[in-house]
Amino acid sequence: MKNLMIAGLVLSAAFLSVSLSAAEKPSSAFGKKLFNDTHLGSSVNDRSCNTCHIGGKGMQKAAVRSDLAAVINFCIAGPLKGKKIAENSVEMQSLTLYIQSLKEK
Ligand code: HEC
Repeated sequence: MKNLMIAGLVLSAAFLSVSLSAAEKPSSAFGKKLFNDTHLGSSVNDRSCNTCHIGGKGMQKAAVRSDLAAVINFCIAGPLKGKKIAENSVEMQSLTLYIQSLKEK
């Protein structure tokens, strides 16, 4: 019985790690989704990045800023009234990739 429980634990741990690693990898497509997400950074004021930066217009110059992540967090905490997100998170990396993808157009 005890062995079964341990086996169950090991199995669910394995499943969890598989589903976690299968979770979002940084991508500009995910970034675009977040850019249009009114709940980014647990924001509740119905604003997304796209509310002000429609279609990412005018972001071309921002794409090469070395402080891009800080500026993104500035807009999350300010206009979105949300909580800043970790600079090394999948979300931040994806938002950065999305904004950088706008430059190439
Ligand atoms: C209420 C309007 C508003 C919202 C919502 C908003 N921003 Fe901004 N954002 C601004 C303003 C105003 C500036 C400063 C003026 C400018 O550079 O356009 C700015 C500047 C920026 C810049 C720097 C632009 C540059 O040219 O260097 C980036 C990048 C940026 N915002 C990203 C975001 C992201 C990502 C979101 C969503 C988390 C967001 N913003 C949400 C108003 C907004």
